[in-house]
Amino acid sequence: MDYNELNAMARTIGDRLDEKPLLGIVLGSGLSYLKDYLVEKGRIDYKDIKGHPVCTNKSHSGSYIIGTIQDIPAIVMDGRLHYYEGYSASECTIPERLLGILGIRHLILTNAVGGITAGPGTVLVTTEQIASLVPSPLRGENIDELGPRFPDMSEVYDPLLSATIAKKAKEENLACKEAVFMQFPGPQFETKAEVEMARRLGADSVGMSTGIEAIASRHMGIKNIGLSLVTNWACGIAKGPITDEEVLVVAKSSEKTMRRVFEIALEAIADDR
Ligand code: HPA
Repeated sequence: MDYNELNAMARTIGDRLDEKPLLGIVLGSGLSYLKDYLVEKGRIDYKDIKGHPVCTNKSHSGSYIIGTIQDIPAIVMDGRLHYYEGYSASECTIPERLLGILGIRHLILTNAVGGITAGPGTVLVTTEQIASLVPSPLRGENIDELGPRFPDMSEVYDPLLSATIAKKAKEENLACKEAVFMQFPGPQFETKAEVEMARRLGADSVGMSTGIEAIASRHMGIKNIGLSLVTNWACGIAKGPITDEEVLVVAKSSEKTMRRVFEIALEAIADDR
């Protein structure tokens, strides 16, 4: 993937925009209700962008939804590309790179996670991540137009915004905590020993996406906000087996908390413009 190819894909989206997007949002499993915050102006399917990977998970290919959220020009990625689908880490992060080329300054990455230190229904604001079990999306020749060869990751999630969001959520007594997230490659859920390893390494939650996306986005200087919904206790902490049905059920039943933390994140971003 070189800059010209990315630029051509970004132009396909850019041709449909009437203003520069400032905010990107990635929707996690079971969290697609968050797209109703967007006043929609149009959408483009991944399959209609030449060279763009499509989602293999469900019947739909994935799409970019264009619009505004609380007057902020935004693009929502409805359908994420996962490493376990067979794409390289670099291919998985094409959407973040396209949004970066189009000009976004903030990216909200949402996901469903297994909890190690927090249980189902808790919303976690990511402060840090461990993504060392998956290859870097920046591996290979650096795309200098996007960012430096050796980008700093000390603020992979924006510390000020994350602290503001977590503080406000705490004031409202929401089930919300700051947390360290660890990305696993999937698609199998982790073993008990892997969850124990993650815990000893300092992780509060585990999931199969997001880490590499945050890296690709931060490479371009974008401010990331990570919001995870704990849908199950991670393996070994959970009493029985983990199923993807339970993930979706909890994602739905915790909608109120997730929505409120998301609204707080939007307020924090609006204040940071
Ligand atoms: N592990 C990995 N990914 C997940 C989990 C989990 O326990 N729950 C939701 N996504």
